[in-house]
Amino acid sequence: MKIGIIGAGNIGATLARKLAAVGHEIKLANSKGPESIRDIAAEAGATATTKEEAVTGVDAVILSIPFAAYRDLATLFETVPDNVIVVDTSNYYPFRDGSISDVDGGKPEAVWVTEQIKRPVIKAWNAVLAATLEKKGVDRTQPGRIALPVAGDDPAAKSRVMELVEATGFDTVDAGELATSWRQQPGTPAYCTELTAEELKSALEKADQKRSADNREVLIKEFMERGDSLTHDDMVARNRAVTA
Ligand SMILES: NC(=O)c1ccc[n+]([C@@H]2O[C@H](COP(=O)([O-])OP(=O)(O)OC[C@H]3O[C@@H](n4cnc5c(N)ncnc54)[C@H](OP(=O)(O)O)[C@@H]3O)[C@@H](O)[C@H]2O)c1
Repeated sequence: MKIGIIGAGNIGATLARKLAAVGHEIKLANSKGPESIRDIAAEAGATATTKEEAVTGVDAVILSIPFAAYRDLATLFETVPDNVIVVDTSNYYPFRDGSISDVDGGKPEAVWVTEQIKRPVIKAWNAVLAATLEKKGVDRTQPGRIALPVAGDDPAAKSRVMELVEATGFDTVDAGELATSWRQQPGTPAYCTELTAEELKSALEKADQKRSADNREVLIKEFMERGDSLTHDDMVARNRAVTA
């Protein structure tokens, strides 16, 4: 597939590298412009472009930018054909993104994103830590493969995105429509807990929307306070414990 990725940070650059490695043609963009990511793109096997070029002549666009930055993309998709799949990897963290009352009031993050960019999205790769994405993807023949949730309203688009997630080294679980995609947001048992597909299905069912924002805040506060003393395994363990 021809894929544009907007956001060349932890998640976007890793996705560029992994998807290029399995034969996809990747354009990579950020906010500062292509010159600022030439090296990152070259290392990933992608082409550095502008945002506008990243959404032109592609089959899919992956958005991997801070949540509040979606407001900057209000007009980006105006001329992009409807059959171009748009994927959202984002998560809402008020300390970073500022408070967004609609989302604080319970609107699923991906629904809010859809409203900002005026395009339906498929929510994927949001519920995986950057280090898990980078280091823990394995071939589907390996036992105990980690699974990631994928949510969206268009079954055909969701199915194609699930294939892309598989190609990055993870099993997938169909997490339903965007209206219930809060089940894979921060503070839920499905979020960055490194579960197998069967475990993930159960975690999605157990999610409690009333608790998730409090869980998210408890966890991010702890992670920021503990800083470098916190290992990757500690983070996964704390995510599991607090959201159980
Ligand atoms: N890190 C994780 O473990 C993790 C895991 C799952 C999901 N996520 C979510 O995935 C998203 C990306 O996370 P990340 O850790 O990869 O972030 P990051 O490392 O901070 O990278 C963000 C990227 O977005 C670009 N960007 C920011 N504003 C933009 C705009 N208005 N237009 C175009 N590009 C823009 C930045 O480019 P410039 O530098 O040029 O501004 C940068 O390349 C976030 O929503 C995050 O919550 C993160």
